[in-house]
Amino acid sequence: MIGCITQWCGVCKFCTGGRPYLCPIQFAGRPEGAAPRLAANGELIMQFANLSSFAEKMLCPERSLVKIRDDMPLDRACLIGCGVTTGLGAVLNTVDVPAGASVVVIGCGGVGLSAVQGARITGAGKIIAVDAQPWKFDLAKDLGATDCIDAKDGDPVAAVHELTGGGADFVFECIGLVPTVQQAVGMTGRGGTTVLVGVVPVTEMVPISAADLTLQEKKITGSYMGSNRFRFDMPKYIDFYLDGRLRLDEMISSRIPLDGVNDALDLMRKGEAARQVIVFD
Ligand SMILES: NC(=O)c1ccc[n+]([C@@H]2O[C@H](COP(=O)([O-])OP(=O)(O)OC[C@H]3O[C@@H](n4cnc5c(N)ncnc54)[C@H](O)[C@@H]3O)[C@@H](O)[C@H]2O)c1
Repeated sequence: MIGCITQWCGVCKFCTGGRPYLCPIQFAGRPEGAAPRLAANGELIMQFANLSSFAEKMLCPERSLVKIRDDMPLDRACLIGCGVTTGLGAVLNTVDVPAGASVVVIGCGGVGLSAVQGARITGAGKIIAVDAQPWKFDLAKDLGATDCIDAKDGDPVAAVHELTGGGADFVFECIGLVPTVQQAVGMTGRGGTTVLVGVVPVTEMVPISAADLTLQEKKITGSYMGSNRFRFDMPKYIDFYLDGRLRLDEMISSRIPLDGVNDALDLMRKGEAARQVIVFD
């Protein structure tokens, strides 16, 4: 099984219209006023996104689960539950990236590296990965990037314009910072599309030039959880892994026990790991 936060009701306009990832039920959780069903040491526990993935046992709605092939190793399947589905789906589902299109991915974490792979799988032309940690570039190139830009070395927007001859067809922002969202719009070429995948803190606004959008007909769209229909998409992504198109082993920096989770999160905050997998005994 893989668990996914985008559980769905099956009857609302989003589910019946083919976009179950937008189903409002996923944010509902327990009925209003009802106590959580989990407790530890006598204290009630709230479940993040109705899943609680840092736990040895989970209590979750049936419609947040998908059954997968028995020959899929679980320590790699787990990557598909969020980051891979988000990055891959942003490229394969949210927008229509034609073969040969130029693509920029800002941020080479688990989400961004999956977007790089989505661009490779869909047959993009130039695939430019941008990050502030140059150690990620070998990995990004291994997974499909044709060019890499060090965000700390000069102006990354100018560098993209130079590589693409005036801006990219698609730019995927996979960090969630105000300056990198602005850079993403700046890197997008005339008629191109900026896809916001990273989650900017809800308290922050992003100033951008509206005239830039109008006069160059640029588009901006958000992408939530890779616009997934996860019971359809995740088995497909597993087939992609097992037939060699989707590369997951390379994205795993380390395997750790559950009690290493805080150190693992610190490493991720510092940008020093791609993905770390908790292995439960
Ligand atoms: N849209 C969705 O549905 C969805 C789902 C899951 C996660 N997310 C969001 O996606 C984002 C990325 O998640 P992740 O797990 O890949 O994060 P991550 O921390 O693993 O990766 C972030 C990457 O950005 C790089 N970076 C940081 N600041 C930078 C800068 N100024 N310039 C260039 N590179 C910089 C880091 O070095 C790192 O490689 C987060 O905002 C997360 O909340 C969105």
